[in-house]
Amino acid sequence: MNTRYHDVAADHYDAKWGIDFGDIGLQQVTAKVGKALGQHPSRFERSLEIGSGTGYFTLNLMRAGLIERATCTDISPGMLSTLSANAQRLALDVETVQADAERLPFEDESFDLVLGHAVLHHIPDLQTAFAEFMRVLRPGGTVLFAGEPSRYGDRIANVPKRLAASLAPLWRAAIGARPAPPAEGGAPDAALESVVDVHAFAPGELSGFARSAGFADVRVIGEELLANWFGWTNRTLEASADPMDVPWAWRQYAYRGYLLLQALDRGLLEQRLPATIFYNLLLSAEKPAITP
Ligand SMILES: C[S@@+](CC[C@H](N)C(=O)[O-])C[C@H]1O[C@@H](n2cnc3c(N)ncnc32)[C@H](O)[C@@H]1O
Repeated sequence: MNTRYHDVAADHYDAKWGIDFGDIGLQQVTAKVGKALGQHPSRFERSLEIGSGTGYFTLNLMRAGLIERATCTDISPGMLSTLSANAQRLALDVETVQADAERLPFEDESFDLVLGHAVLHHIPDLQTAFAEFMRVLRPGGTVLFAGEPSRYGDRIANVPKRLAASLAPLWRAAIGARPAPPAEGGAPDAALESVVDVHAFAPGELSGFARSAGFADVRVIGEELLANWFGWTNRTLEASADPMDVPWAWRQYAYRGYLLLQALDRGLLEQRLPATIFYNLLLSAEKPAITP
């Protein structure tokens, strides 16, 4: 299901989710890594990304100089071919391998960093996947996953989503937009959406998978609260309208408002409120170094 859904999504994935490989993308990705690993993480010699999609994390981290040699894996060949095209455009050299996170086709202790963004919630057997992350990491290596949905954060975010859905006809009338045209072919990807997301996590569950695989220094933090409510409200409204009719000024307001609230979340709320109420969870941990 995940292969099919993401193969269908691959061509329009970057446009749909605002995936950026310029300054904004670089700042967004390095800020997440900074939150998880500290503001000045050391450069990783060899990285393995799980569910790398079109390359959002790895390509931006290579551009930031944080990764030297990268291997990107995904269960969807369609996503990997978009990633290769993105890497070529950015003149970055990346190895791509189609692989399921539960069965990684790599030798033991091959990588210094295993990372991923918005992927763990798609993987059915996380115990097996974390055992694989542990196996392919070198002793002392780092595991880092960002953008995982928190169970309560996800429930709370349903409130602005529902509210926006009920206000959508009024909003479209106010900006003079026509309703969104039906997707070609009946939107086969939308039909699979509820099937491909198999988990939302409590912070303790996520850290539990890492601990039971043998990871040390396991840390789970929450990010994005106000930014997320604002973002889902606008995304739900925009999705209800013909994209041609959404004014530029609205898009600017939605984008700048999101960045502003993201800064507020980061500066004020993320250190003070429990991880469980935020929309996204970030996990970081270390594979213990061998002791003599
Ligand atoms: C929500 S997308 C995120 C893509 C990318 N990491 C990003 O942040 O833009 C999830 C990705 O995980 C991949 N995926 C889903 N299940 C997987 C599995 N069992 N093993 C490896 N990749 C998987 C999907 O094909 C998809 O590309």
